[in-house]
Amino acid sequence: MTLGLKITNVSKTWNPGGPQPVPAVRNLTLDVELGEFVVLLGPSGCGKSSLLYIVAGLEDATEGSVTFDGLEVTEPSPERSLIFQEAALYPWLTVRDNITFGLKIAGQSPKKQEEAAERLLRLVGLVGAGDKRPHELSGGMRQRAALARALAMQPKVLLMDEPFAALDIQTRARMQGHLLNIWESSQASVLLVTHSIEEALALADRVVVFTARPGQIKAEIPISAPRPRDMRSPEMIDLAIECEALLAEEVEKSFKEQEQELA
Ligand SMILES: Nc1ncnc2c1ncn2[C@@H]1O[C@H](COP(=O)(O)OP(=O)(O)O)[C@@H](O)[C@H]1O
Ligand SMILES: [Mg+2]
Repeated sequence: MTLGLKITNVSKTWNPGGPQPVPAVRNLTLDVELGEFVVLLGPSGCGKSSLLYIVAGLEDATEGSVTFDGLEVTEPSPERSLIFQEAALYPWLTVRDNITFGLKIAGQSPKKQEEAAERLLRLVGLVGAGDKRPHELSGGMRQRAALARALAMQPKVLLMDEPFAALDIQTRARMQGHLLNIWESSQASVLLVTHSIEEALALADRVVVFTARPGQIKAEIPISAPRPRDMRSPEMIDLAIECEALLAEEVEKSFKEQEQELA
């Protein structure tokens, strides 16, 4: 049995058989090992979210297969937690109750829930915010609360779809630091989507660059530099230039395509 996530020859066409089928992802093969941090980088509209939905079990692939720890992915599971740009917290619950929501449903004792909440609040840097409601928090804090809620279920892989895109630059940098700490202590795998080269380079063990739609893998760039990484080091600057060149070609292609569609 292969541990971790295995995406094999996956294609996704939206509206297949309809008047305007949209090929979002084509023949994509990608493995994410246990504990590995993989970042998907690609122009917008190239099928990154589509792929995450399939891995999360929210959508079916048109072709190909996804397995996790050797089992076919057919439906969502707390083991594969999906986190979006906008933290989807329950607005009527406190942060603590948001975090323990899944544990409560799973029938954990109040004492266990309380212990988990305190541990997670500490982990994501929200000690003291447990009794607040989501609307009382800043965007960065809400996103951390959402992360804590996902982590409560002890996921084996965190699927993150541009999780920090709505945050300002400073908050974003801090959130990346938080995420790295959490990832290191959780031993989970991460598959994170971003269109920020800097974010990709700060976080990833491996950056996977997508082509324009339909998304295919254009390049894979392993990064072994220890974290936290100095983005001004010659090594990181070289990697950034490399990623920028790879991405620029695809952004150009996808703009051209969009213009043709509008013409
Ligand atoms: N539910 C859907 N129905 C039809 N087309 C969709 C749907 N979701 C996404 N698409 C299309 O699939 C393509 C890839 O979208 P998406 O996966 O969201 O790209 P990305 O996340 O890389 O920006 C786009 O052309 C988008 O319009
Ligand atoms: Mg997307």
